Amino acid sequence: MAYVRNAWYVASWTQDLEAGKPLAMSILGEALVIYRTASGRVIALEDRCVHRLAPLSLGRCEGENLRCMYHGLLYNSDGKVVSIPGQKLIPPSAKVKSYPVVERHSWVWVWMGDSTKADPGLIPPAVGFDDPNWILGRGYLDYQAEARLINDNLLDFSHLTYVHANSFGAGEVFATQQPKITALERGVRVERWIENSHLGARSGFAEPVDSWQSYDFLIPGVLLMWSGGFRAGTAQACNYNRPNYDDAITAVTFTSQAVTPVGNKTARYFFSWGPHCRHGDAALRDMLMALANQAFAEDKAMIEAQQRVIDRTGHAQVMAIKHDLSVTLFNRLLEKWTDEQHELVA
Ligand code: FES
Ligand SMILES: [Fe+2]
Repeated sequence: MAYVRNAWYVASWTQDLEAGKPLAMSILGEALVIYRTASGRVIALEDRCVHRLAPLSLGRCEGENLRCMYHGLLYNSDGKVVSIPGQKLIPPSAKVKSYPVVERHSWVWVWMGDSTKADPGLIPPAVGFDDPNWILGRGYLDYQAEARLINDNLLDFSHLTYVHANSFGAGEVFATQQPKITALERGVRVERWIENSHLGARSGFAEPVDSWQSYDFLIPGVLLMWSGGFRAGTAQACNYNRPNYDDAITAVTFTSQAVTPVGNKTARYFFSWGPHCRHGDAALRDMLMALANQAFAEDKAMIEAQQRVIDRTGHAQVMAIKHDLSVTLFNRLLEKWTDEQHELVA
């Protein structure tokens, strides 16, 4: 399976990157060490000392630099060795790869491709914990499955009816009705109205509402979703188009989810969820996060089991159904971007 190299991948929640504590993370099979310098910058380097290949993630942060704690080689934030204990001469080749990295929307984004093309404008417009309008919780899960299977899962919510019957309690409608699907330049937009829904009940709203959900699933595998509950009849009044969120009467929430391929058959799945500050509080956020943890464990159990079947059957043939339109569109987009870059990762 191909993944786009020229893209920003989520490596960590910024809150999980403690100052002075190097973090080990692999993306697309490349082992990285990520650390925050004394001045607060975030640096991503290859996690492999040039001396005898010890991981730099076991190293020590010293100001802006990182010291390998095996024999003490000191690296600057460009990955260049600047000190070798016991010798004056530093070979010019004493350097590890450094990766473009940006901290934005409470995520640490690493560019895995050609560093001259690392445009921060391509970072998906997520919502971070610095936005006072949202009361968010966060987490991540490690998968023993390839990232593509998680992307496929997030692109097609018809599985909610079955996988999440006990958690989200989404009912039949996700499986029986097609959402509106729109191709974007770097992703797919999935929108749906659910009329006379009880989804507002989670926010303490007893009457049925028209529930609107809209998400963008963007390269390389980032889901940004806004939802809201509206007065019954709003869907029809909007002609089933996008409503104005200011008219929502309940349950306006945001979730971001990012799928990072760690290795060939491993992935890390980052997620946040919570209400808009006019539609909930920290208690509602905690309730939503408990629900998310239950639901995402259901996805993980199914997807890891799916991976085991794929491994057992070798080149298994899939059979597309109508709900796979968004999956097909996104995979075509991935092929297009990887083809254009001639940079495939097996
Ligand atoms: S392996 Fe890093 S200094 Fe020796
Ligand atoms: Fe799911």
